[in-house]
Amino acid sequence: MSHRLYIETVGCQMNMLDSEMVVADLRKRGYELTSDVKAADTILYNTCSVRAHAEDKVYSALGTLKLMKKRNPEKIIGVMGCMAQKDQQIIFNRAPYVDFIVGPGQLQQVPDLIDCARQGEEQQMAVGLGRRDGSNDEIKRTHETFDPLRDPTMRPTPYQAYLRIQIGCDKFCTYCVVPNTRGPEQGRDPQQIVEEAKVLAEQGCLEITLLGQTVNSYSHTDADGNRTRMSDLLKLLHEVDGIKRIKFVTNYPRDMKKELLETIRDLPKVSPYLHVPLQHGSNEMLKRMRRGYTVEQYREMMYLIWDTLPNASVSSDFIVGFCGETDDEFQTCVDSVREFRFKNSFIFKYSEREGTKAAGMLIDDVPYKVKQERNNELLAVQNEISEAENIKFIGHAVDVLVEGPSKKADKLEQDGPLKQMVGRTHCDRIVVFDGNERQAGQILPVSIYETTPFTLFGAMVTQETGPEVYAL
Ligand code: SAH
Ligand code: SF4
Ligand code: F3S
Repeated sequence: MSHRLYIETVGCQMNMLDSEMVVADLRKRGYELTSDVKAADTILYNTCSVRAHAEDKVYSALGTLKLMKKRNPEKIIGVMGCMAQKDQQIIFNRAPYVDFIVGPGQLQQVPDLIDCARQGEEQQMAVGLGRRDGSNDEIKRTHETFDPLRDPTMRPTPYQAYLRIQIGCDKFCTYCVVPNTRGPEQGRDPQQIVEEAKVLAEQGCLEITLLGQTVNSYSHTDADGNRTRMSDLLKLLHEVDGIKRIKFVTNYPRDMKKELLETIRDLPKVSPYLHVPLQHGSNEMLKRMRRGYTVEQYREMMYLIWDTLPNASVSSDFIVGFCGETDDEFQTCVDSVREFRFKNSFIFKYSEREGTKAAGMLIDDVPYKVKQERNNELLAVQNEISEAENIKFIGHAVDVLVEGPSKKADKLEQDGPLKQMVGRTHCDRIVVFDGNERQAGQILPVSIYETTPFTLFGAMVTQETGPEVYAL
């Protein structure tokens, strides 16, 4: 009988992609996926360390497995991802029944680690960043051979896929654990990226989202010294038949250069959607975060974006309650959200992370209650703006990549073949409309008649509805 695998993934898109690859690898070896942890003989957690909450979730999930493992010692439990790299032995101390720990740079070892555990070997640990001796060859090689393993069934839809173009991060923002868990920044070989995009297109994928922690800083230099930058890579990927849309996250403000924006403008497949986190609206806070830019420089970047790509949607991340944040500093952050009118913002309460500069040098002195209040206030302002920006779409048509029935579709009573469908615009807005399941995987015009801060509601444009004014 084949093995049954249960896998749970927390964290960012990088982790979703890593899980897809691990599953693809294990399926090739005859594993089947199950959503029932009790029915599984192999249990994997792909973990995140970016905030304490993400780690707590995994430790409490591991806690629930203790009894199960006692009753069924043959079940294999593995912890992979960023927490594995960061906590290492601590995981074995807190959950001694875990069989192996594997970092994000060693995931190609998962099948072997499982086999060894099954053969009764002692607890194993495969971690490492390749920072110490200045040579990254090992990491590069493992990632290049690992990434092209794709499993379309692991993706939320067959029409959309992540594609890693860069691993690691060298920015070392003072609050952030990612450089410690993902290692040094490295751009993948552009030819390998293009090859992988072709594989995805053959699998029926229409939209690729390029992944990197500072994706627009992408750079790769080959053995002959030829350098490929983000704008060159976008041009190469634009030529891949079958791919209709190209998105990329997450951008670093200082590297959002004019040439890149002009390339985005000139390549119709590249979405005019830019996630460029500001993180804070106060220069003092940005300095403490060591983000490497001022609010004035960010504003210059926004003017450049608005000038070059007038239809672009820009979104951001913010951290509230970072070390020493005063009421006044927080208010400058609220002001910046009002000024830059982001499509949406992800807002996080600062969570001190061991091993970061901030944990070593600054005091986490904003009380939790204040962080919570500031989070709510900033979110309310952002939602107001998102709503006002979305209302502008009413009366316009947008091209929607239809993903499938909406979450609500099965609960709604609808006539005939009509079903509530959901999809996304070029600029990454979610659109809900009445259609049918056969439309999944098509790009269709939808006319918008209602909006909320998070969703556009519309009706399919037909010949009868006549000409429409298009928006992106
Ligand atoms: N590389 C991306 C994002 C990485 S983590 C970038 O540079 O923008 C995703 C988001 O989590 C960050 O943008 C930041 O807003 C938030 N974050 C990172 N570390 C955090 C911490 N210690 N506490 C709270 N939020 C944090
Ligand atoms: Fe973390 Fe900063 Fe790197 Fe983003 S750029 S991953 S916030 S260190
Ligand atoms: Fe979390 Fe690692 Fe991503 S810490 S946010 S899973 S890079």
